[in-house]
Amino acid sequence: MAPPVRPRVLVTRQLPGEALGRLGSHVELRVWEEELPPPRETLLELVRGVDGLISLLTDRVDGPLLAAAPSLRAVSNVAVGYDNIDVSACTARRIPVGNTPGVLTETSADFAFALLMGLARRVAEADAYVRAGQWRTWSPTLLLGSDIHGATLGLVGLGQIGTAVARRARGFGMRVLYVSRHARPELEAELGLRRVDKATLLAESDFISLHVPLNAETRHWLGRAELAAMKPGAMVINTARGPVVDQAALVEALSQGKLGGAALDVTDPEPLPVDSPLLKLPNVLIAPHIASASHATRGRMASMAVDNLLAALEGRRPPHCVNPELFA
Ligand code: DGY
Repeated sequence: MAPPVRPRVLVTRQLPGEALGRLGSHVELRVWEEELPPPRETLLELVRGVDGLISLLTDRVDGPLLAAAPSLRAVSNVAVGYDNIDVSACTARRIPVGNTPGVLTETSADFAFALLMGLARRVAEADAYVRAGQWRTWSPTLLLGSDIHGATLGLVGLGQIGTAVARRARGFGMRVLYVSRHARPELEAELGLRRVDKATLLAESDFISLHVPLNAETRHWLGRAELAAMKPGAMVINTARGPVVDQAALVEALSQGKLGGAALDVTDPEPLPVDSPLLKLPNVLIAPHIASASHATRGRMASMAVDNLLAALEGRRPPHCVNPELFA
């Protein structure tokens, strides 16, 4: 008897850890091995004939891609965010879409807090100063920064990562405000947080940290009007998605000295062009979208993405599915 035909799966980049080895024992696997993502036209060719796709946030999974992949029946994104995927189009084709929540929460919160501290205490500037041979004496006025303890942190979004950042902030003696569609009285009681309206958050926060997914409601959540309403000298930390901030307005506010600084793990676009005006500003700290990038967490994300994909290929509900209505 002929062996059963194994599903064909495309993975759009090499992933860390053991997950792809495990996947390879269940499916006929094709991994895009290049450092850069497959160019769009190449991706559309690669998905022809595949049953499953493990995608990254650099791959657009939309109508044209689905049209190019008539046999596709499972999509699994190696990220908690899935704004790169047209979920409605997938649902219309009855394709489950998986993502990787939870496993990256603490790692991402660590990094958001690292950015906050690095920006407030000018860590990158200090390192560049020493490396440039400028350290000639101890000085009472050298590289003065802002205190973190006693400052007010405004969280935009109180999901898993926002909550994990709130815990860190409380440990550092910060006052924490938040805006969210849903009140979280149990967290308010446990962590001493206060839910406020947008105007209050903007007016009272020394640091604003963004923790919302990118969608039509959150695009340019921090726009020109909001930046103008922020406390003078306040700082912005963005580990969510670049377009949650109106980047042109941010550059303007920073250049005019209205804001104290910005720490960005995500930009609009990504990668940030090397001639971006952001890179000319000293009070800006930029990282290449690495908040979840620890060895352990990236391995767990890969493993979770494989679990989601295998479940969908077997007709089961993926453990983490963003269109669960397909299994209702
Ligand atoms: C995500 O998971 O959405 C992050 O942006 C990358 O880990």
